[in-house]
Amino acid sequence: MARVRLVAGNWKMHGSRASNAALLDVLVKENPPGCAVCVPFPYLAQAAERLRGSRIAWGAQNVSEHAQGAYTGEVSAAMAAEFGCRYVIVGHSERRTIFAESDEVAAQKYVAARKAGLTPIFCVGETLEERDRGVTEAVLARQVDALVGKYGAQGLDGGIVAYEPVWAIGTGRTATSKQADEAQAFIRARIAAADPAVAADLRILYGGSVKAGNAAELFAMPNVDGGLVGGASLVAKDFAAIWRAAVSAL
Ligand code: 13P
Repeated sequence: MARVRLVAGNWKMHGSRASNAALLDVLVKENPPGCAVCVPFPYLAQAAERLRGSRIAWGAQNVSEHAQGAYTGEVSAAMAAEFGCRYVIVGHSERRTIFAESDEVAAQKYVAARKAGLTPIFCVGETLEERDRGVTEAVLARQVDALVGKYGAQGLDGGIVAYEPVWAIGTGRTATSKQADEAQAFIRARIAAADPAVAADLRILYGGSVKAGNAAELFAMPNVDGGLVGGASLVAKDFAAIWRAAVSAL
């Protein structure tokens, strides 16, 4: 049985104060365990205000790799922490591809988030072209090694990895539960080679077109410890169906 411990929504660059309020109200009313929302920076205060006192955690979608300084437009992990964030997504494929973030920068952001007391959700995943070329494991190894090879597996103690195949993000084309589990077993084994105890305890989420209709099957897999949900996290009833699947898979 998979250890389903977290379903995190990634709102990406969506929302408004009014639509957020409606969505957060439904979350608070249902108050599910093991649930979080990662919202755009300007809405952190609103998320904090609405969710404080509930079981639902909130987080950011990115942070600077730098602690402070002349980095116009950037937000530090300490600033996100001041808004009560528990989580922060780092190394999302949209950051890697659209904003040219390297493996090294993703790893640096992970470390900066840990230093500020946040729990980073470290995203990895291959493109369709890489999967078709048969280099999925090599890509995952390179992305994981940028963190574990440089900073050690200890940094992942209490941390979270999200396997998000780029070809499944926002496409409606979900990885099969077998594909997700295989990739996630590979990630766990790669980390186990450095520290078996950390790897055994590590939460590895799956992300990429998680929907109400496929969540239960994904969460039943032994290496799928939850989900990182984009589009479906913006629709209260869909997100609710996903966390219900997570809770009943416990
Ligand atoms: P979708 O669920 O919209 O495919 O997005 C996945 C994702 O990128 C979550 O971080």
